Amino acid sequence: MSSEGVDKTRRRFLTGATCVVGAAGVVGAAIPFVGSWQPSARAKAAGAPVRVDISKIEPGQMVTEEWRGKPVYIVRRTPEALAALERDPDRLRDPNSKDSTQPAYVDAASRALRPEYLILLGLCTHLGCAPMYRPEVGAVDLGGDAWLGGFFCPCHGSKFDLAGRVYKGVPAPTNLEVPPYKYETDSVVIIGVDEEAAA
Ligand code: FES
Repeated sequence: MSSEGVDKTRRRFLTGATCVVGAAGVVGAAIPFVGSWQPSARAKAAGAPVRVDISKIEPGQMVTEEWRGKPVYIVRRTPEALAALERDPDRLRDPNSKDSTQPAYVDAASRALRPEYLILLGLCTHLGCAPMYRPEVGAVDLGGDAWLGGFFCPCHGSKFDLAGRVYKGVPAPTNLEVPPYKYETDSVVIIGVDEEAAA
């Protein structure tokens, strides 16, 4: 191959690589791991609580932590996202979380101790895939105007709102699970410890 040919091939490769890195960067920006003050791997596997500094989470951003080997999603909801929770409850199977798993001390509709921060297990209640965070209101691939932001499970198409409440007519039977947690301070949450037990 001539040096010109090599250069073209290399340029094509670099262009492709940039696209891949770019896409990965977007996902990484949307779902960064916080990873501070973590217990040892052995303690985590045994179910030790995980302490997370939430002060750096931007409005609208989601971070993923790990507790007992499961992904935990932490979303900082915007005022618009909180307002959207009130809209069109008819699209939801269990809007007041009567048949879903969450601690008694979280609000049944917003499903949080502090409405601004949603904390969920990132496991679809159908067969356990990891739902994708899709906060974009009106996303065309998720129903356009009917989509108010939430989570989409790519395995079999289940949809959940921004409180993890499941839509009607999808395979997932219940809302995404809320783990036990409590606030240590305004900016530090401990996942795996009950608010009631700690009080
Ligand atoms: S595992 Fe999520 S829809 Fe089936």
